[in-house]
Amino acid sequence: MSHVQFECTSPRLEGEVIVPGDKSISHRSIIFGSISHGITKVTNFLDGEDCLRTIDAFREMGVQIEKEGNSVLVHGNGLEGLKKPAKTLDFGNSGTTTRLMLGLLSGLPFETTIFGDSSLTKRPMDRVTAPLREMGAVIEGEEGGKYLPITVHGSALKGITYRLPVKSAQVKSAILLAGLLADGETIVQEDTETRNHTEVMLQAFGADLKQNHEGITITNKGKLTACDVEVPGDISSAAFFLVAGAIVPGSTITLKNVGLNESRTGILDVLEQMGAAITISNERITGGEKIGDLTIKHTALKSTTIEGDVIPRLIDEIPILALLATQADGKTVIKDAEELKVKETDRIEAVCRNLQALGANITPTEDGMIIEGPTKLTGGSISSYMDHRIAMMGVISALISEGAVEMDEKDSINISYPTFFDNLEEILQ
Ligand code: S3P
Repeated sequence: MSHVQFECTSPRLEGEVIVPGDKSISHRSIIFGSISHGITKVTNFLDGEDCLRTIDAFREMGVQIEKEGNSVLVHGNGLEGLKKPAKTLDFGNSGTTTRLMLGLLSGLPFETTIFGDSSLTKRPMDRVTAPLREMGAVIEGEEGGKYLPITVHGSALKGITYRLPVKSAQVKSAILLAGLLADGETIVQEDTETRNHTEVMLQAFGADLKQNHEGITITNKGKLTACDVEVPGDISSAAFFLVAGAIVPGSTITLKNVGLNESRTGILDVLEQMGAAITISNERITGGEKIGDLTIKHTALKSTTIEGDVIPRLIDEIPILALLATQADGKTVIKDAEELKVKETDRIEAVCRNLQALGANITPTEDGMIIEGPTKLTGGSISSYMDHRIAMMGVISALISEGAVEMDEKDSINISYPTFFDNLEEILQ
């Protein structure tokens, strides 16, 4: 692991960025393509390490998947076409692969063992294994199935009604996937809406899924049929350039074809509240998902409070929003975001330590952080914590720091945004 240093004297950002495909939707395109009948053509697939783990998992289970750059052809033979993998499945850093696959594997007629890297091994899996066991899943793992490695002994499942105790789309999706294999109705209820890509895509593939006041109901009755997926640009990746455009003096950036699904656009609401100059154009729908172009210009910003129902709509954007808040006038409070502690790293700690090291006035709290701005960042030495979003926040912070920003590594960025540095170079004037 080699240290890297970023230094930019009076940069300005200008031009267009085509951000890569959405990570959540890319994972799901492979999962639903693999368990449906027929050939699913995926375009603008995210070629990031996490999504490649999902492809590897289904190839291990006998699904033919052809990939050329960002285009993928998935030859699905239905749920019954999946075979016992010949080896244990390595899910690397990918929480989404792990949690969604736990749901699916629970109802398949074979035994599978899964493991991951040191970060994934520390992340809680009981949020998924507990409801799956209620459905009849037979799961063994570290600390009673709380942590990887985990072995799933596929078994007969029955539908349950489950109210999500954590605001997590991964948990919701795991239960819905198990519901595809369960007897009777599976109903998931959530107090706060989390990202709904699983529901949108399951309906497009023909699942028997309905949504009403009772919750999201799924049965094993629908026949899943292949459906082409055009993956929208990832708003969670666009977020780094949205914030860069807002805080680097003289900048104007347009981000093309960004996914604008309402369950993901919390960052746009916050940018607006903070007075950012942002416009949306070319709005359209593709594959049931809204997309559009976002243009952002540098302008003075004011502080805000980020809390409550908006949190799941911007959970992955909080690290970069914290950097934004260091440049806003006044006190920004982020709360109700305790989920940050169980992401790829403890993101409350990672964000606060790094921004403090760069000269920001930021204080961690139990469920978020408090940032006083505006502060001129000085530069300094930080760590990526091997977390892609913390690493990208570090790089963007260098654009507004007086001195250099030194970071312990940058390769973790390949998890979700392999073309990050190319895109940055394209707009750096
Ligand atoms: C994801 C859901 C979110 C998010 C993650 C991707 C998904 O996690 O942080 O990056 O694709 O469902 P939680 O469900 O744990 O909140």
